[in-house]
Order: sequence, then C-alpha cells, then structure tokens
Amino acid sequence: MPEEPSPPTRGRTVHGELANAGHRVLAPDDAEVEAYLEQALHVAPPARPSDEAAPAQPDTVIVLDFGGQTAQLIARRVRELHVYSELLPHDTPWAEILRRAPKAIILSGGPASVYDQGAPHPDPAVWSGNIPVLGICYGVQLMAHELGGEVLPSARREYGPASVTITSEDGLFRGIDRQQPVWMSHGDSIIRPPAGFVPTAQTDSTAYAGLADPTRGLYGIQFHPEVVHTPSGREILRNFVIEIAGARPSWTPANFAETTIAEIRARVGEGKVICALSGGVDSAVAATLVHRAIGDQLTCIYVDHGLMRKRESELLRATFAENLGMQLVMVDARERFLGRLAGVEDPEEKRRIIGDEFIRVFEEEAAKLGQIDFLTQGTLYPDVIESKTSETRAAVKIKTHHNVGGLPADLRFSLIEPLRYLFKDEVRAVGLELGLPEAMVLRQPFPGPGLAIRIIGEVTAERLATLREADWIVIDEIKAAGMYRSLWQSFAILTPVRSVGVMGDGRTYANVVAIRAVTSDDGMTADWARLPYDLLARISSRIVNEVPGVNRVVYDISSKPPATIEWE
Ligand code: XMP
Repeated sequence: MPEEPSPPTRGRTVHGELANAGHRVLAPDDAEVEAYLEQALHVAPPARPSDEAAPAQPDTVIVLDFGGQTAQLIARRVRELHVYSELLPHDTPWAEILRRAPKAIILSGGPASVYDQGAPHPDPAVWSGNIPVLGICYGVQLMAHELGGEVLPSARREYGPASVTITSEDGLFRGIDRQQPVWMSHGDSIIRPPAGFVPTAQTDSTAYAGLADPTRGLYGIQFHPEVVHTPSGREILRNFVIEIAGARPSWTPANFAETTIAEIRARVGEGKVICALSGGVDSAVAATLVHRAIGDQLTCIYVDHGLMRKRESELLRATFAENLGMQLVMVDARERFLGRLAGVEDPEEKRRIIGDEFIRVFEEEAAKLGQIDFLTQGTLYPDVIESKTSETRAAVKIKTHHNVGGLPADLRFSLIEPLRYLFKDEVRAVGLELGLPEAMVLRQPFPGPGLAIRIIGEVTAERLATLREADWIVIDEIKAAGMYRSLWQSFAILTPVRSVGVMGDGRTYANVVAIRAVTSDDGMTADWARLPYDLLARISSRIVNEVPGVNRVVYDISSKPPATIEWE
C-alpha cells in the first residue's frame, strides 16, 4: 500500500508552495495597519522581551508542539473548555514550563518517528509525574519509548478514520461509549508499554491505541481528540483537563477583558497611547480594551485612504467616536492617496505606494499629538506562535514580518498588544463582550490596500465609486441570503474589460464586474463558493441595473491554488 502523502506544512498550500505565493503580505484577516508599516519600511522585527507576561493567572494547559498539523487546534480545543492553553516549542526548558505553573501538559502529534535522527524530544522532566501529561499520537509514542516501552517502526502509516474499543476505565474515557469512531494517524506502533502502564484502548491494528499510568498522571492516545472526526474528542480532552488535572474553567471573554483592562491600566499609568484603527476586528477590539482601561489617554487615528468599502468610515466614526466616546482623529487622506496612485497599474506598486503613504500620514498625525508613550497593535496569538515554534520558524517568515514585525525599528513607543494571546474567534468573542456591533466584529477579512487591489488597472475616484456600489450589492444580497458568515470572503472586482450590451433600446459598451465568493479556513487555501443560482441572479441583475458603467457580471469559479483570492 503506498504511503500516505505527507500533509502540507503550516504556511504552505496543499501543493507545498508558500501559501501566499511569496509576493504578498499575507493577512489572515482584515486590513490591519501593520501591513502598511511593513510594506513601507521593510524592517526587521522589533525586539520583544521573551518573558512578556501571559494573561494573569488563569489555570493553564501547556501544549508542546512536535510539529503536528493540529497542534494549534489542541490549544484551541482546550480553550473552548474555558481553560487557558499555550502552545510552546517542543524543546521548551522545564523551567520555562514551570514558570507558567501549568495544571497539565499535552504533547502534540508530529511527523517524526521516535527513531529518526534528531527526532524532537521534550525536556525529560516532563515525565516526572508532577504534572499530568497527555501524549497524543507522536506524543504517546515518545511517552512509550522514553519510559522504557517498545515502539516498532512500521512500514505503513495508519491514517484516517478508525474505530477504537475502550478497554479500561482510566478517567480519560469516563462517560463515553466503549466503541468510538476516531481519527487515527500514526506511523510507528507501540508493541509493549512501559512498566506501570496499562492499555486502555485498542483498534484492529494496534493493541495500544490508548495507555495510561494514572498513579503518575501519564496518559496517552494514539488518535487525535482535537479533530472533528473524533466526535468524543472534546469529552476526552475535558476529562483530562478538568477532571484529571483539575483545571478551573475560568478562561472566558468576560474574565479576559477584566484582567486585561486592569493590566493595561497598571502598565500605562499616566502615559499616552495611540492606536491606528483600520476598520478591522483586531484593531477595534484592541483599542476598545485600551479605552476601557485608560479612557482619554488613548487617541485613535483612522487614516481614510478612500479605498474602503461603502459606509465603512461612517460605521467607524459612529462606533468609536459617538457610541464609545473615544478620542478619534479621522484623517481625510483620500486626495493624497488618489494623487499618488494616479496612472499606477502594477499591483505591487499600488501596495507599496499605499503602505508608504499610510506611514507618512500616520506619522504626521502622531507627531501632532506630542509625547506618546505606547502604541497599541492588534497582533494575534497565531502570529506570535508561528514565529516561535520550531517547525514554522523559517516557513512563515513573510507572515511573521507582516503581523509581528511590521514596525519601524526606531519605534519611539512601547507596544501594547492586548490580543497577543488570543485566537481570532476569541477576539470576536471579546469584541462582542465589550459591546462592539456585530457588523464590526463578525465581518469578513478585508485586505489592507482595500479596493485598490480589486480594481484591475488604474485606481480613480470614478472607478472606486463604481466598485463600491457593486461591492455593496454583493454583500447586501449575501447577507440577505444568510450566507455572509459561512463565507471567508465575498466581494466584487472591477475589471478593465468592456463589453457590448443592450439596455432599453440602446447599445452599451461598459465594464465587466466579477464576483468572488470563497470558503476557506485560513485564507491559505480556498474554494469558490457554490452560491445558489438565484442569489447570483439577484446580484447580477441588481448590479447591472443599479451601477452605472457596468453591463455584465461574471462569477469567478477558481480555487486557491492555483488562483489567489484577490485578483491582484
Ligand atoms: P490572496 O489573494 O493572496 O489572499 O489569496 C489571502 C488573504 O490575504 C488577503 N490579502 C491581503 N491582505 N494586504 C492585506 O492586508 C494585502 O496586500 C493582501 N493581499 C491579500 C486577502 O484578502 C485574503 O484574505
């Protein structure tokens, strides 16, 4: 039987190439301003203290990352149980682990074999029995191998759905049926457990799909509880984290907001903070947290480059200035950006100009505010861990630069990054908790350069107006059909192609608008959405009837790869 193709590395497409084709600033989400800063400056990441404090004191579960595709998912699943979880490189020294006072440790899966030269190992103190440990997949093989059991290299990998039989009640499987569908993935097989361990689950192909030494708090399973294909996975993780390890489920948006606000208040003191609002979720939530902490000591700057969607600037003003009462400087820089974009057709040149102009405007405005002590950014946890974990150290350099490193080297302010321990869905939950409008919190990603990279060719005020109207109709109809949140992105593109049409008695010669709607988990790969024909029909007829200068609408049926999501 041929061996299973190795799964793609994070940050790469299923075909193995860099997910963002190497030429783009990869934005896993919305138009975050760091993208501009990075584009404009091409500078190295700023130094950050490595011991920057994690959120104060919630019970913590450490996930050691052995390079598995789903390592991050384990941490997310634990957090869904309301227990804070951090992903650390597999070789994190024991002292570093202890500093976080974890209630439990989970060893992720990984592509290596315990027999490989240079196979990744944890600090041996992990096996001390002081803190409960759950080994998953490669993690359990390490546990068996390093504690004196026997693991046999096997020629073929078992990969995919399997059925396990629970053979022994060890606490991990409490309350779940004896027969369980699971997602299995292993190359090597455990053929003899270490002394003190008992087998707890088996499949047709392995007698040790689960093993445990409850007296030392060591547990292992050969299958993946973190993936949806293991329906009782959540229960198994809950049994481990809450019942066995005794972690308290106190990681909630409300608790996070409360402790973070207190921390920001203590750190900032009497200082002054600025934040660049982009219109995206991350900067919105970050700014709101800081505002709750220090009120008018925060000034937000919003650079209106004129490349936003319809009504976006109004929503921003209404939310932040009027409803939340923030000090908001709205800079109308539309003319400046249009002036510099005049005659420019090359997509990368557009990006460069927008980034460069953004930083100029931002710096000019910041300078008017006098002494500033802190800058708030919406950096998220995936950006932080991807720059930390060994497996991805090199592969996601571009992403790292965009999200974490995109700041001037001679930064005059210290950074406040209140979201650097949150996953995207947690940011949204915190945003809702803070009372931000759903229209702002649950929105689709939007690229930093905005509509400029959805107008093929030159960006002019007139073409922007055309695209803005067409885009509004796409979003309006998709929302009306109840599909907005199931799509990664849905939008219109203004092509320079003109075609002949007929309207009333007259012949028209007008532009073609393309519609793009994709489903995706992370923007790295995507599929075109199978939108209902009726919905497409409504979008098309409204655009042609309501938007002057457009007489034809086409639907983009390309997946990524080989196409990208944006057209430029
Ligand atoms: P592509 O088009 O490369 O897009 O498939 C992947 C994701 O990234 C967004 N994107 C950008 N975001 N600046 C950004 O801030 C950019 O230059 C940029 N280009 C693409 C895109 O919207 C999608 O979500």
